[in-house]
Amino acid sequence: MSAKKIQNKPTVLVVDDEYQQRELLAGFLMKKGYTAIPVGSVTEAEEIFTERGFDAAILDLRLPDGNGIELLKKLRAIDPDLGAIMLTAYGDISTAAEGIRSGAFDFMEKPVDLMYLEKILAAIIDKRNILIENRILKETIETAIPSDIVAETNEMKEILSVVARVAHTDAPVIITGESGTGKELISRLIHKASDRKDKPFVAINCAAIPETLIESELFGYEPGAFTGAKKRQIGKLELASGGTVFLDEIGDLPLLLQAKILRFLEDGQFYRLGGTNPVRPDVRIISATNREIDIMVKNGEFRDDLFYRLNLISINIPPIRQRSRDLLHLAKKFLADFSRKHGKNITDFTTEARDKILRYGWRGNVRELKNVIERAIILSRKELIGPEFIPTEEGESTSSKGELDLRPLEDVEREHIIRILDYCDGNQSEAARILGLHRNTLRNKIKEYGLQ
Ligand SMILES: Nc1ncnc2c1ncn2[C@@H]1O[C@H](COP(=O)(O)OP(=O)(O)OP(=O)(O)O)[C@@H](O)[C@H]1O
Ligand SMILES: [Mg+2]
Repeated sequence: MSAKKIQNKPTVLVVDDEYQQRELLAGFLMKKGYTAIPVGSVTEAEEIFTERGFDAAILDLRLPDGNGIELLKKLRAIDPDLGAIMLTAYGDISTAAEGIRSGAFDFMEKPVDLMYLEKILAAIIDKRNILIENRILKETIETAIPSDIVAETNEMKEILSVVARVAHTDAPVIITGESGTGKELISRLIHKASDRKDKPFVAINCAAIPETLIESELFGYEPGAFTGAKKRQIGKLELASGGTVFLDEIGDLPLLLQAKILRFLEDGQFYRLGGTNPVRPDVRIISATNREIDIMVKNGEFRDDLFYRLNLISINIPPIRQRSRDLLHLAKKFLADFSRKHGKNITDFTTEARDKILRYGWRGNVRELKNVIERAIILSRKELIGPEFIPTEEGESTSSKGELDLRPLEDVEREHIIRILDYCDGNQSEAARILGLHRNTLRNKIKEYGLQ
């Protein structure tokens, strides 16, 4: 217990050749809850720095066997994130000016104002912690998120960053989004990026199992619990022990079972059907639904107390038609995947086909897109997938088939601008380039058409 506490104290290296000065600084820092280690020379500093880690350093600019700036360079070769305060005597600032300007370190003139020093030190350590946290996050994302997940839009990138941040916790996550948007994919990703990754991921589809069976599926039963219950059967919650339970289509869970799940979440235990011994599995709960669950809560169709328990972290995946960049990248990825799978040499879509992909509504989202493209790959005899393989929105005028589009130019222009802006993730410079417009012209049109 106490060992852990000591570890959590930030450790500061204090390098000053004046004995009294370094002892004063170290003593002050110890009183403020830091671990401070005072040394008197460059050599000593380098020695101790290779032995143990530090969160920050306070360095005197002038040292008997070198100077603080060079020492800092050496220390940073070992720990690139090391933040430092350089102490300068009156008149010495010009020597340190370059380092100060480049933001390589903070500096303070002697005599040292201790309160001010502590403030700067706290800021340096905060910054370091954020740097380290970001690096860990990045590594988690890079190692845990397979490259075949398409995330080109800011919305999807933000979702992946939430995944990386929540994965290592046991916080319940609810994932909402239309059918086929990738809810199960994201929930598996959370599991894979978590410390539970070597334990089971058990999915339960609450909509697919008859109401009467969900309970025994979830909780299991003892012999004799009901007619036909001959042997003890372990439920899915118990099966997932140490791992993750994915409650899919949670919005379809009958009210009676909502109450039973809530009780398990509150007590951390349940009884197998017909059982008398409590079971306490260690599971993380991820749930998903394509229904508007907050509205169901308002209408009393879903228990609010259960909703608040499941909803600690919520992730909403927007439909694919609102993520044009992901849409096009997914389309190309599936084209390449299925072309390989079916031994075809299909390399791309025609411009018309791509246009149709962007126009179509994709109510079935990524799953529908995947199916459409696989079918196209199987059926197409050409090197490019043409528009005939992409579904047409009901009621959409197929102008190429002779029906004239009678809208005023303004309407067409407005729609086209929206589509391109969407494609560029709202980046106006990029959109202007594609549209062949000057940025200011595009900006005026955006205002004129009341977009955004
Ligand atoms: N961003 C993505 N990158 C790559 N593949 C994706 C992406 N999103 C979804 N998919 C793929 O689309 C298909 C549908 O995803 P998933 O089953 O996770 O959707 P869902 O939201 O659970 O759907 P439903 O509501 O119908 O259960 C899967 O094959 C999945 O791998
Ligand atoms: Mg699903």
